[in-house]
Amino acid sequence: MPNFKTLDDLGEVTGKVALVRVDLNLPMAEGRASDLTRVEMVKDTILELADKGAKVLLLAHFGRPNGARSSVLSTSMVQGDVERVLDREIMFIPEVSGPVVDQSIGILGNGDIGLLDNVRFWPGEEANDAAFAKSIAAHGDFYVNDAFSAAHRAHGSTEGLAHLLPAYAGRAMERELTALDAALGNPEAPVAAVVGGAKVSTKLAVLENLVGKVQHLIIGGGMANTFLAARGVDVGNSLCEHDLTDTANAIMDKADHAGCTVHLPYDVAVATEFAANPQSLRICNVHEVASYEMILDVGPLAAEALADVLKTCRTLVWNGPMGAFEIEPFDAATVALAKTAAALTQEGSLISVCGGGDTVAALAHAGVTDTVTYVSSAGGAFLEWMEGKTLPGVAALQG
Ligand code: 3PG
Repeated sequence: MPNFKTLDDLGEVTGKVALVRVDLNLPMAEGRASDLTRVEMVKDTILELADKGAKVLLLAHFGRPNGARSSVLSTSMVQGDVERVLDREIMFIPEVSGPVVDQSIGILGNGDIGLLDNVRFWPGEEANDAAFAKSIAAHGDFYVNDAFSAAHRAHGSTEGLAHLLPAYAGRAMERELTALDAALGNPEAPVAAVVGGAKVSTKLAVLENLVGKVQHLIIGGGMANTFLAARGVDVGNSLCEHDLTDTANAIMDKADHAGCTVHLPYDVAVATEFAANPQSLRICNVHEVASYEMILDVGPLAAEALADVLKTCRTLVWNGPMGAFEIEPFDAATVALAKTAAALTQEGSLISVCGGGDTVAALAHAGVTDTVTYVSSAGGAFLEWMEGKTLPGVAALQG
């Protein structure tokens, strides 16, 4: 298990100022946060510190303001959401350093919570400028990073601060790192990786890393078409990166050498249009796709075979849907596989760690969010972790 300090290693914190990096980059719809998972994730850390008497200063980015203030990207936009989830009032502080922060700390009582403004309003954040990080660190007694989903950024608040103050992983970070370690760090074999989604090009590094680490690589979604085409299958009008067939072949060769079985669908759901329950829907063998048809999901026989693969595995790591799960019935394979993973997890025979934006939505759609072992709300950070990269925000916590 990676070595880092947690809140259990903190001594007395009463009256101390905790700088807590959280991810409040919430998805927005019509000016309102449409999903509060990221706030719910950091609730334990914030309340634990506050209840122990620390003055908690929340530090977060919101969107990509490019080093300039923007009223619509102020963290004050999500203050109400944070208050609702915590069920506490919090003080909004429109700076991240300087006299206003000093004065606000003076006003905050022990156990109170303040929300600093969007740390990306200052160019020093993304530049990981030492002077900028020091100006923030000057206000804190210790630093807690609870934002795994921003840990792939080597920014002042995600990386720099960890070198300037005693640094601890928050409870959400701790849970995330423990789950990820169980999935790919020190997993129980056999390990299956499910990788889906539209394009191979966005997940090349993920696939290359996984074939050397897992025993079964299950490829679904649009990216499976590129692999099928590489094997000489005519995928008709399907989404396919024909220019990447050599790359796909190289990945399959690497898998062969590493003893990793690559699973591609042998039956598929096809249609001529991308619409819910289209008239043109049919299930066929991958060798029977007509030139005008699109593959939109893994077929039922292949889905059943994939479920059988999962039954032989002890660990599953999952990123990306098996088909166009947003429209029925092309959610079928994703839902079936998710339900199998959830059932095996409940039985205690499988550790299932899933992550990435679409994957979270797909698992929620299948109704299994609470029955898999762990669902990461991280997007880019989860992918970079699947690529085998060291995440700067995590590395900094390990000293
Ligand atoms: C995310 O939403 O995935 C994280 O908050 C990181 O955001 P970023 O891609 O703007 O760095």
